[in-house]
Amino acid sequence: MTVKAGSQAHKELFCQQFIETHQNYDPETLPWPELDEAALARLRGVPFWQEVYHTERRAGAIVDAFTPQVSDPIVREAIALQGLEETRHAKLIRVLIDRYGLDATEQPLETFPNDLETAFIDFGFGECLDAFLGFGAFKTARQSAFLPEAMFDIFDVLMFEETRHIVFFINYMAWREKRRGHLAPTRALKSAWFYGRALRRLMGMVQRGQEPNDGRDFAVTQANMFLDGFSFRGFVEDCYRENARRMSAFDPDLMQPRLLPAVADLAVRGLRLWDQRRPRLERAA
Ligand SMILES: [Fe+2]
Ligand SMILES: [Fe+2]
Repeated sequence: MTVKAGSQAHKELFCQQFIETHQNYDPETLPWPELDEAALARLRGVPFWQEVYHTERRAGAIVDAFTPQVSDPIVREAIALQGLEETRHAKLIRVLIDRYGLDATEQPLETFPNDLETAFIDFGFGECLDAFLGFGAFKTARQSAFLPEAMFDIFDVLMFEETRHIVFFINYMAWREKRRGHLAPTRALKSAWFYGRALRRLMGMVQRGQEPNDGRDFAVTQANMFLDGFSFRGFVEDCYRENARRMSAFDPDLMQPRLLPAVADLAVRGLRLWDQRRPRLERAA
């Protein structure tokens, strides 16, 4: 990285790149594939469309609400575009739901607090966590040919935009904190705290998904298909590798998420060591 984090040049770089890589498309006219009965059943069996739809609508609402409060013009222009993209994600999921007859309804959005910047930051860290785990999950699903490749090509458009969002967010945070005169250790602590909140929110969502009334028994039906031979270490490795692959598309002068890949790397090393030692430990026993 040759640009000084938090500088005027840094701000212009991360905003300009975000604005320049914005794509124009209409979710309605994407090349949606025809699905046979088996693929349709697999798609309908996925239990989280409702949650995904709600998350994207909520994302659009938070970013749109925050936009007019951003005082810097180029930062505001970029954030306005992100709002547009999030709203388009919701529309894309809506098209998917309607086209393939998926089971998901529109839930009311909560009212947001007056402090919209904190809501935006909370949401941003949440996106970083979701995207990192999503990279691994997406790879697993794609490899198992859970759905036709044409469908993954469409989801890839969405994944690319989410990757842009998190790169923008990480740079925005560094610029914001620098402007406020916060030092790197404070920033790292703050990130860890926000990631903790994001993780709790995610765990809450997973828990809700497991509630018996949900009625959709993903675990015993559809999931088996790509969870056969599932290994936790393999999953974390996929997240790590896919993160690196997707990040390599970005200008090396931009900052990238570091904390989650570092945690994943540490976890993989630990698990590898454990796997190597285990046979010896078993023999010894
Ligand atoms: Fe999104
Ligand atoms: Fe996003």
